[in-house]
Amino acid sequence: MCWHQSDNVMQHRILVIDDNRDVIKALKLLFLLNDIDCDGATSPEQGLDMLKTSSYDLVIQDMNFSLDTTSGVEGKALYQDIRQLNSDLPIILLTAWANLEMAVELIKDGAADYLEKPWREEKLLASVNQLLELYRLEKVQFKQQKQSQARTTKLADKFDLAGLVYADPAMLSLLEVATQVAHSDAPILITGPNGAGKEKIAEVIVANSPYKNAPFIKVNAGALPADLIEAELFGVVSGAYTGATKSRIGRFEAADGGTLFLDEIGNLPLSGQQKLLRVLQTGEFEPVGSSQTKKVKVRVISATNAELSKAILQGKFREDLYYRLNMIELNLPPLTERPEDILPLAKHFIGEDKQLSSGAIQTLKRYNWPGNVRELQNVIGRAKLLAQGSIIESGDLGLNIKQSSSAAASEFTAQDIQAALSAHDGNVTHAAKSLGLSRQAMYRRMDKFGIERE
Ligand SMILES: Nc1ncnc2c1ncn2[C@@H]1O[C@H](COP(=O)(O)OP(=O)(O)OP(=O)(O)O)[C@@H](O)[C@H]1O
Ligand SMILES: [Mg+2]
Repeated sequence: MCWHQSDNVMQHRILVIDDNRDVIKALKLLFLLNDIDCDGATSPEQGLDMLKTSSYDLVIQDMNFSLDTTSGVEGKALYQDIRQLNSDLPIILLTAWANLEMAVELIKDGAADYLEKPWREEKLLASVNQLLELYRLEKVQFKQQKQSQARTTKLADKFDLAGLVYADPAMLSLLEVATQVAHSDAPILITGPNGAGKEKIAEVIVANSPYKNAPFIKVNAGALPADLIEAELFGVVSGAYTGATKSRIGRFEAADGGTLFLDEIGNLPLSGQQKLLRVLQTGEFEPVGSSQTKKVKVRVISATNAELSKAILQGKFREDLYYRLNMIELNLPPLTERPEDILPLAKHFIGEDKQLSSGAIQTLKRYNWPGNVRELQNVIGRAKLLAQGSIIESGDLGLNIKQSSSAAASEFTAQDIQAALSAHDGNVTHAAKSLGLSRQAMYRRMDKFGIERE
């Protein structure tokens, strides 16, 4: 195990509550030598007063105070009073052998640890250091959680999220940007894998734009043969080519004054790309087979799951068009990279009438979702049909992955743990979630492999 003292400026403070002044003196000295502030209180009343007036990171408390008792009743009362003041503060109980049973009872209630008198210094220090570090991380995490809750509330209050469901911080950040840029005219490019929700993001942008009540036209460049795309986008006059028997307006004209969503933009052929570039620059175009120039004002949102930069290198996509389209680029991560979205989305697709078993929840969290949200939607739709009663079991999901958490967990290597941490910018909670581990289990593995907790 590697123990970390507070690496930064923050100094930890411990309060020792014990009627034996020698105990306080000995602990103060021990902690002084280890760079930890320590105060002492010789009675429960004094200790509680000190906890009310200043802030501590850990309490070490005795179990007996008046000379004639050894029952531990006073210690229990003190423990409970401290818990009333602070439900998270780590509390270490110093017990005599006779109070062991009481100590165990309080551990079950949430005391952090107990040590028998006389204590071994290394053991006490080990426990203290570990608890201080955990408490510090919990406080940091609590603060982050509070902040993202506040951001989530603000987003919901200020904007129309068009029914989009999310809980992951990655999605929160993305939505903050998307809603910020929604009001401008600037073209937006949404990138992300299949079924991740690119169109949904486009809907959010439109819902918060000045064009929300104007036309919102969607064109899928991937679903049309190359030679029809231009006619689809810009319109066609009759006789322009065989089969063009009637004149037809294009999607740009239909979207005039509003928004055009160009899906799978990477599939647009080069000739169409040139026309598109011109509309984006001037608003002008000519329908296929016509020499009459038309002018429109359209906000363009495009989407792709292809790497346009690669297509540019291969000469399949115009670089100037790319820079025009991606004035603002929103990158939507795959579902596995926003693990906190999985359950809320699953519940959203299930609706009111059914629930997930805990096994099914585990399965959903562990699966790697190559088809992202759309796949999740399909899996849930099928599971609802297959489920016998009101509970969706893991088997109803039809996803073939390992079920046993303990077996899976024991297989993680140092590289797995490290990779998960890097993928989540060192955020232990998210890294742990992505591996299907609890935060504590993650810390144990980090300690086992000597991975620093920062
Ligand atoms: N965050 C979300 N909340 C609610 N529904 C969502 C969310 N994300 C996606 N969906 C739904 O999942 C389905 C797939 O999403 P969408 O069509 O937006 O993905 P896409 O990235 O455009 O997919 P493709 O790459 O296939 O075009 C849609 O039915 C959409 O409404
Ligand atoms: Mg799409």
